[in-house]
Amino acid sequence: MKVINTISELRAELSLHRADGKTIGLVPTMGALHNGHLSLVHRCVAGNDITVVSIFVNPTQFNDKNDLANYPRNLSADCALLEQADVDIVFAPEVSEMYPEPDNRVFDFHPLDSVMEGPFRPGHFNGVAQIVSKLFYAVEPDAAYFGEKDFQQLAIIRNMVQQLNLKINIVGCPIVREPDGLAMSSRNMLLTAEERERALIISRTLFDSLRFAADNTLDDTKSYVEDKINAVNGFRLEYFSIVNGYTLQPVSNWDDADYIVGCIALFCGNIRLIDNIKYKEVE
Ligand code: PAF
Repeated sequence: MKVINTISELRAELSLHRADGKTIGLVPTMGALHNGHLSLVHRCVAGNDITVVSIFVNPTQFNDKNDLANYPRNLSADCALLEQADVDIVFAPEVSEMYPEPDNRVFDFHPLDSVMEGPFRPGHFNGVAQIVSKLFYAVEPDAAYFGEKDFQQLAIIRNMVQQLNLKINIVGCPIVREPDGLAMSSRNMLLTAEERERALIISRTLFDSLRFAADNTLDDTKSYVEDKINAVNGFRLEYFSIVNGYTLQPVSNWDDADYIVGCIALFCGNIRLIDNIKYKEVE
């Protein structure tokens, strides 16, 4: 496994593989890797000749300076995991490599970015689009892998690929959960033991709501989740939205779409967690 820090070295290395007719897959990450990331890596390794994993804590997508400062970083542990997973190249650039100049590009994802995370994290998706497009230009992958835990991010990246006419297969991969149900996240390691215990209520409530939804209206299901979460001391709910899984726009009846997902964001103490659940999905 090669660890590369510059775009020029990355391009030189990848052009050799491309000349050999090899396919290239990319897994963009911000490091602090867990089994959720590794599930993306395994899919990528299985589906491509060459797997590139990028590790870069992207400053332009953090709307909160403390969140950026506290974001967990552990490059050597990450590289050990990636080596075991048969990754070919780790791309771990410095901020000055990715942003030699400030990136002033403004993307328009309306209405995908006007809902859910949008109002709570102004500029977040623009920053994600800035870095992911730069990574796409640097790697020119055949396929790129993203987790469905960041459900809105995945929809926005698919949209960005269309807007930019890129020929990259965007592969969404299912949420990976801890044995007790908590969705895996690099932020979980920032939770105190007590918060970690409490955080379990999130996935439990979403799974309970799946059963509740079977004989109740969409509005009642939404209230069911909101009431349960609001009743927990130490939680601060930002939103729970039940949306069309393609357009991300809220739906009001179970018949309104054939793909319906409930997305939640809340603070557990000072740590912001997100999760989602599929109520209805087309095969
Ligand atoms: O999902 C993430 O970890 C990040 O948003 C991404 C896609 C690596 C861009 O920095």
